[in-house]
Amino acid sequence: MSALRIALLGYGTVGNGVYKTIQTHQEKLKRILGNDVKIVAILVKNIEKHLAPDSDVLLTDDFKEIITLDKLDVVIDAIVGKEPSFSYLQQAINKGCHVITANKEMFAHHGAELKQLAKEQGVTLGFEATVAGGIPIIQNLRQLLNVNNIQKVQGILNGTSNFILTKMREDGCSFETALKVAQENGYAEADPTNDIEGYDAFYKAMILSELAFGEKPDWEESIRIGIKPITPEQIKLFTSFGYRFKHIASIEKTAAGIIFSVKPVLVNETHPFYQIEGVQNAVSIDGDIVGNISLQGPGAGMFPTASAIIEDLVYINKYSFSPTFLDEQNGLGLKLSSTYWAI
Ligand code: HSE
Repeated sequence: MSALRIALLGYGTVGNGVYKTIQTHQEKLKRILGNDVKIVAILVKNIEKHLAPDSDVLLTDDFKEIITLDKLDVVIDAIVGKEPSFSYLQQAINKGCHVITANKEMFAHHGAELKQLAKEQGVTLGFEATVAGGIPIIQNLRQLLNVNNIQKVQGILNGTSNFILTKMREDGCSFETALKVAQENGYAEADPTNDIEGYDAFYKAMILSELAFGEKPDWEESIRIGIKPITPEQIKLFTSFGYRFKHIASIEKTAAGIIFSVKPVLVNETHPFYQIEGVQNAVSIDGDIVGNISLQGPGAGMFPTASAIIEDLVYINKYSFSPTFLDEQNGLGLKLSSTYWAI
């Protein structure tokens, strides 16, 4: 088979990480995928600001040039915001491309439509990188859903917020100083509003809710509070009592519906998230058969996110060249075709 041809939408921190990882891990990927992997085109917003990383890579600010390429296997979405990401991925799926997205805002809003479209077109949709950075939470949830009814998912889902809270406590610095370091490290979004006001964690929790419970709670009635109101004085005071602020998303399935919140919580050392520090994320899942499973790892940054995206690439390559959309029961359990097992 000829090389797997990929278009990359976005060449910021995440896009760069994907490009570099594919270059540095070419041999390993070839061994696993049985193919060379080639980024053939990169879409950027401002063409003046970028150089093509290689002379045979098409660098363009015009999506039409990408979607009209003769042969394109996979489109990777590493841009932010609902649009144009949603329209681009719809066009890519309609062209028969497999798609991978790291765009949590877009996917929280339009994930169900994209899943349906991918199913209709017989292509695979990967969204591992939308939640919890490098932690393979989507694949693990899928695995658990094969057997378990999920009862509750809790997590620290925004690396920037956890980094800021940790830095303010450890260094006694201001919110602004800690945020600046998070931006310099490539954790925060270009516009950090979504990080510090809790939207980013809210979108991620909505994606988890749809996968774990097959539905999302009412957006308007769901609690979303960010870390912005927390002051260094409050952190100092509660630290002296043995408490830490953690920004926690909680989604629980009850007979009365889904109970959902994203907010700062004071935890003491007996809490499983007390030791989750810096840019780390953590996710705790309660399943009716397995009990509690906890995962922890880097929640943001160039390479952890690239790792999640490339895991999706392997997943797509493994399962989708005999098309089966593995998420077709919308999180209520996977319906696997015999091809899943045969490959
Ligand atoms: N800004 C996000 C965070 C990046 O800090 O968690 C990863 O989604």
